[in-house]
Amino acid sequence: MNGAADERRGALPSGVSSSLDLSERLRGGDYLAGEGLSTAIFLALKLGRPLFLEGEAGVGKTEVAKVLSRVLDTPLIRLQCYEGIDVNQAVYEWDYARQLLHIRTAEALGTAGDRTRFEDELYTRQFLVSRPLLSALEHHGPMPPVLLIDEIDRADDEFEAFLLEILSEFAVTIPELGTIRAERPPVAILTSNRTREVHDALKRRCLYFYIDHPDIAREVEIVRLRVPDAEEHLARQVATAVQTLRNMDLYKPPGIAETLDWTEALVALGAKELDEDLISATLGSVVKYREDQQRTMGAALSLLAGGGGG
Ligand SMILES: Nc1ncnc2c1ncn2[C@@H]1O[C@H](COP(=O)(O)OP(=O)(O)O)[C@@H](O)[C@H]1O
Ligand SMILES: [Mg+2]
Repeated sequence: MNGAADERRGALPSGVSSSLDLSERLRGGDYLAGEGLSTAIFLALKLGRPLFLEGEAGVGKTEVAKVLSRVLDTPLIRLQCYEGIDVNQAVYEWDYARQLLHIRTAEALGTAGDRTRFEDELYTRQFLVSRPLLSALEHHGPMPPVLLIDEIDRADDEFEAFLLEILSEFAVTIPELGTIRAERPPVAILTSNRTREVHDALKRRCLYFYIDHPDIAREVEIVRLRVPDAEEHLARQVATAVQTLRNMDLYKPPGIAETLDWTEALVALGAKELDEDLISATLGSVVKYREDQQRTMGAALSLLAGGGGG
């Protein structure tokens, strides 16, 4: 690090000075990003801004945080959002069990002494349990950690407002202890499957990128990267079939995760070439709703032909 400005802002890996460099590094970490995405990630790292990634399930949002933690060689701290998540699960919690034990022990030993002083003792750092957001703020290391706030669309408005505060200050105030501030902002990645719209105010704090399903060529590349045992021809057939499935207006269109699972299943069966029998035998690794499966089986031939579906 050179200079205070670098300390405060920016977390690019050393030797990376363009989004092209970065996309090479990401590839080295087994992640293939298109130009738009690698530019968004590059800017987020360079400017020290949170990155908000939106897109359908399985397009590679969560993996961005994972690959960044590998490439930056820094811990990944993950907060999985869900309905009803609150500060106790996201930031910190007092460890009641340990506090109680401490009281019992002090009583038994007769060391509780001055009552108010003893009570203060119960609200010190040793009785505080850090949850992901506090861990990310308290992290010490050569690089800030990657903070993944995953599937924020599952959390409720109140929690979103609270996050807004943390993401603008990178600090949190604990009434009994005071304010804890991050040395350097963590590399914050927020994701949403867009089951609801996230508020403008939160988006304004972040850089934004919408991840689309990849085109066939990139999906083939991803398959070759992640399932090296799959032959090119098979990878292409699978990617083509998945593309067709995505155009079929299924209840749950397959993501890249399903493409990879499917390819792995086919490779495990020793398949070199996709055919109707193989499709029906392995459908469960790519299409996971009964109605979707029935429709897919009816269209198995068009999956092989790479037709437009139905
Ligand atoms: N661009 C990509 N390059 C390599 N692997 C990818 C890419 N996109 C997705 N994957 C893989 O696909 C799977 C699903 O990705 P994930 O990040 O969990 O999706 P999301 O969070 O959008 O639902 C993971 O195994 C991930 O490694
Ligand atoms: Mg995800």
